[in-house]
Amino acid sequence: MDRLIQQAADRLLSSAWAVALTGAGISVESGIPDFRSPGGLWSKYDPMEYGDIQSFRRNPGKVWRMLLDMDHLLQSAAPNPAHYALARLEQEKILKGVVTQNVDSLHQRAGSRKVVEFHGHGRSARCDGCGRHFPREHLDLKELPPRCPCGGPIRPNFVFFGEAIPVEAQNEALRWVERCDVLLVVGTSATVAPASHLPIIAKGRGAFIIEINPQESDLTPTLTDLYIGEPAGRALSALVSAMGL
Ligand code: APR
Repeated sequence: MDRLIQQAADRLLSSAWAVALTGAGISVESGIPDFRSPGGLWSKYDPMEYGDIQSFRRNPGKVWRMLLDMDHLLQSAAPNPAHYALARLEQEKILKGVVTQNVDSLHQRAGSRKVVEFHGHGRSARCDGCGRHFPREHLDLKELPPRCPCGGPIRPNFVFFGEAIPVEAQNEALRWVERCDVLLVVGTSATVAPASHLPIIAKGRGAFIIEINPQESDLTPTLTDLYIGEPAGRALSALVSAMGL
């Protein structure tokens, strides 16, 4: 791994505009299971029954029961060395930002400031009827789904399958990947569009793709220029050290 880490370090040190794209894998070492690995969330809950906006609207209480099952993991999770390493690379002005598919806010809690939450976040919720917003901690979850005074079901502010990516997040992510000369892809299976299009766009603009994932992803055989088959915490900590930071 040392040779690969040093190659990645050299690439990042000589980059003009490096960006990271992260997925659920970067938070696995924080105790939050990913979606598609063995034992991941979608092995326990059918994504078409629990992850799709139409399923939510058909049975919001059922989807909220799944959300609460995950909630204790999200509430007790803390950033791991991988999140801190990316925050450090931003502080050193090497990493210009992180596009994350995660809704756990762990990048921000580790100190990253330039974060695009491509699939939204779990810090607040909104009424699916009138759109009124509610801070997550103000929700009364004794009855599910929580309801707005207007009577509508309240839903988390993240993106369900079948919904559009928030326009500003999509535009900012596109600006970053169109401009980047190095894209550091960490902990994603790269199977969900349009997030999975971002590395393709970066590559098409001549970016060098570094991928950190213990398992090969859809990107590895075709798009990845430098594949580091290690867990994110270990690989990114070694990367920051190899960069003399
Ligand atoms: N370090 C790095 N990568 C890891 C680690 C780790 N410690 N543990 C697991 N991984 C990798 C897995 O090998 C897998 O390739 O993380 C990846 C996680 O893939 P998914 O579970 O598919 O998660 P993600 O790619 O983020 O899914 C994208 O799908 O369900 C939707 O909205 C959801 O944002 C999510 C999107």
